Amino acid sequence: MTSSGGVVECTDLRPLHAALAQGLAAAATRVLQSGWFILGPEVEAFEREFASWHGVDHAVGVANGTDAIELALRAAGIGPGDEVITVAHTAVATVCAVERAGARPVLVDIDPRTFTMDPAAAASAITSRTRAIIPVHLYGHPADMNALLAIKQKHGLFLLEDCAQAHGAESQGRRVGTMGDAASFSFYPTKNLGALGDGGAVITRDAALTARLKRIRNYGQVVRYRHQERGVNSRLDELQAALLRVKLPHLQAHNDARRAVASRYQSLAGVGLPTEARGCRHVYHLYAVRHPRRDAFMACLREHGVGTLIHYPVPVHLQEAYADLGLRPGALPQTESAAAEVLSLPMYVGLEDHQVSHVIETIAKISERT
Ligand SMILES: Cc1ncc(COP(=O)(O)O)c(C=O)c1O
Repeated sequence: MTSSGGVVECTDLRPLHAALAQGLAAAATRVLQSGWFILGPEVEAFEREFASWHGVDHAVGVANGTDAIELALRAAGIGPGDEVITVAHTAVATVCAVERAGARPVLVDIDPRTFTMDPAAAASAITSRTRAIIPVHLYGHPADMNALLAIKQKHGLFLLEDCAQAHGAESQGRRVGTMGDAASFSFYPTKNLGALGDGGAVITRDAALTARLKRIRNYGQVVRYRHQERGVNSRLDELQAALLRVKLPHLQAHNDARRAVASRYQSLAGVGLPTEARGCRHVYHLYAVRHPRRDAFMACLREHGVGTLIHYPVPVHLQEAYADLGLRPGALPQTESAAAEVLSLPMYVGLEDHQVSHVIETIAKISERT
């Protein structure tokens, strides 16, 4: 327990929402009074603001981050018979979305320093069927974009950045989501930019891709009840868009707050610390450390009132549901070693100094004993 008797949770959205409560309530009231709930002025305004925040021309709001990946692939014409290279050390959603688009996911290993796609592994997985590559900017750290863009160019691939965990992260001064052909975002509540429910978006500089995405998210409709192609129902709703518009102007400050917590954690001893690759700006969606005896370490932290979580304990290729991908234990050694050792320490906007101190002191105590 902390000195105040409480538990420092791994994540807690209440302080952030308490600070923005007035603005969020006003936005919700505005939508209620407008009487317009699906594809209206709030979604349009959020799409403009989110695109402009990234310095790109287009953003398309969709129902969640999984759909953002699926729809971006479909809009790029990727589907049955195509292979899409991505990682197994990710939320299962990344792989699920590739399959929902009809394509075959090809899972490759990660660079253990950044927990993101190993460009050499990606390059060696390319076949004549490869059409796309989806690096995941996991935990808030950008993948090695220069190397991946070179592979994309060489083989003429569609590069979709999965930015679900990295809103506002940067690589060589470029925001993630602005380097590939398109980028998908999730606004799941705990994300660095989170809605108060599900939400997602695709950003891109490509006007034709944008037009197709807008059709596909709305049953393939061009004008009301005219369907140019088969689509789905995947729309960001007016309420979530209005709430996201309240939070977006604070995104940079919220990322700074996460980075301030991370810089205190950088002094931790006895755990493997995350690195920030040269020229990268990590936004610490999660502060994932490594420990060789993770389960005992987590139990000890819990006894001392420090909450932790594992992202992710079983990599996608070893999940029962994905056994037919044909990758056996040992196929992705860095991924499997990360899955066995990573744990996420408390990290959220509004985490207080004394709570961070409690985490640091607790880990110091545990490390001295072991
Ligand atoms: C890396 C990654 N990709 C995709 C997703 C899917 O987002 P959503 O939960 O909004 O569908 C998530 C969220 O869990 C994620 O972390």
